[in-house]
Amino acid sequence: MQIDIARDPKLSKIDHLFVILAEGKHDVPLDVVKKAIRESKFEGRAEETITVLNSEPRKLTLIGLGKADAITHRAMRGAVTTAGRTAKKHRDANIAVLFPYTLPRMDADATALAVADALAQSDYKYDPYITVKKEQKRIAISGTVIAPNAGAKHLGNEAKVISEAVQTVRDLANAPANVLTPTELANRAEEVCKRVGVKCTVYGKREIAKMKMGGLIAVNRGSVEEPRFVIMEYAPRKAKKHVALVGKGITFDSGGISIKPAEKMEEMKFDMCGAAAVVGIMEAAAKLALPVKITGIFAATENLPSGSAYKPGEIITMMNGKTVEIVNTDAEGRMILGDALHYASQLKPDHLIDYATLTGACVVALASEAAGLFANNDELAQKLIESGERVGERLWRLPAWDEYKDLIRSEWADMKNTGGRWGGAITAAVFLKEFVDCPSWAHLDIAGTAYAECETPREARGATGAGVRVTVDFLRSL
Ligand code: BES
Ligand code: MN
Ligand code: ZN
Repeated sequence: MQIDIARDPKLSKIDHLFVILAEGKHDVPLDVVKKAIRESKFEGRAEETITVLNSEPRKLTLIGLGKADAITHRAMRGAVTTAGRTAKKHRDANIAVLFPYTLPRMDADATALAVADALAQSDYKYDPYITVKKEQKRIAISGTVIAPNAGAKHLGNEAKVISEAVQTVRDLANAPANVLTPTELANRAEEVCKRVGVKCTVYGKREIAKMKMGGLIAVNRGSVEEPRFVIMEYAPRKAKKHVALVGKGITFDSGGISIKPAEKMEEMKFDMCGAAAVVGIMEAAAKLALPVKITGIFAATENLPSGSAYKPGEIITMMNGKTVEIVNTDAEGRMILGDALHYASQLKPDHLIDYATLTGACVVALASEAAGLFANNDELAQKLIESGERVGERLWRLPAWDEYKDLIRSEWADMKNTGGRWGGAITAAVFLKEFVDCPSWAHLDIAGTAYAECETPREARGATGAGVRVTVDFLRSL
């Protein structure tokens, strides 16, 4: 959905106005709304909705949010999504949404952005491969968030840019693995970069081998598709800080020789969500002209079994010279990230952040409510957590203490590539730390948040665009 934020839009131009109301907190200044509430005896219970015909705007729908103490980010997203989906069913062309509250720990501007974000994504559907379209006459909806108290003028643009970047990430991640190969992922990253004026360099198999990226080459051995290593550089002249971002780009993770069970294996096309997030962040940063130098990096390959695939028991020498005993080929993300993080560390950035659908263990710990956060720097961790709260993309910190290194100690090499099930998300982070040479590093395990397994009030099934909102907010705070 096309999105804008306005303090006082012309109601005559709007086909359908949606007003979101909590129980017992109904003091909305608009007379049409007051009248509708009175005459329909609308209370504001969760999922209560009422649509009334009107003159200006033509239609008015009240959406209940629940008890006043339920004015939460999650409830707001649910209600706004209901608005967007209702507009789609009604074939409305111009809609407006009024959310007359401030979300907890947010100000008016942040609330307006969050509502705009939810509205922008509310009618998203990945449909390039649906040949029989149910809605032949689907029209583009343009949505305005009414934010009487929002101050900043650039808010509308900010909302637009973030929604487009989130869409880029969702489109990349939802694409099927036969189409979105490592080569295609690199091509699409190049296209995005070209569009927004970011420099993009793509390395192929020969160059990757020459750089001695042993982890990426090992994981790629089972696949007929070539690996890719991609570097995107956004370098505005006024930049004082340099941030490097690294993404996991496994375009399909079968587990390799340590093959995964068949159930839900199709979801492993989403194992490149980290890489997609980095592409989306680069797009947003460039469009917003953020005054920060940003280097976006991702390593991409498939992880498949074959006669040439890497095997348990192999010892792999990584780019930084450290050796890894493979005990499970399904722990492939850390192998490609180890090399990418070493590469990024050599650029000596002020901050280094990686994004990866790294472990099932993180999903067991946090489900889809929060991404796992690991950091070697308390200040960076705190800033990211605060950004996450501000944009409704929660991060929960877990330790990456050296004591956990015991669990990945190897008899045959410097370390093993997994430490088993205990502390699975932590030992993965501790493994990554062996390849980081940067005093301000954070790792986001987005395995539980990068895609939704089922339709939720928050999102359609599929990729969510995790990582973009929190990072753009963080970059703004630098
Ligand atoms: N891509 C998976 C992690 C994953 C699992 C992401 C579920 C999203 C949903 C990763 O490569 C993986 O397979 N990790 C293994 C590690 C284990 C072998 C130590 C896991 O989590 O089971
Ligand atoms: Mn795996
Ligand atoms: Zn994986």
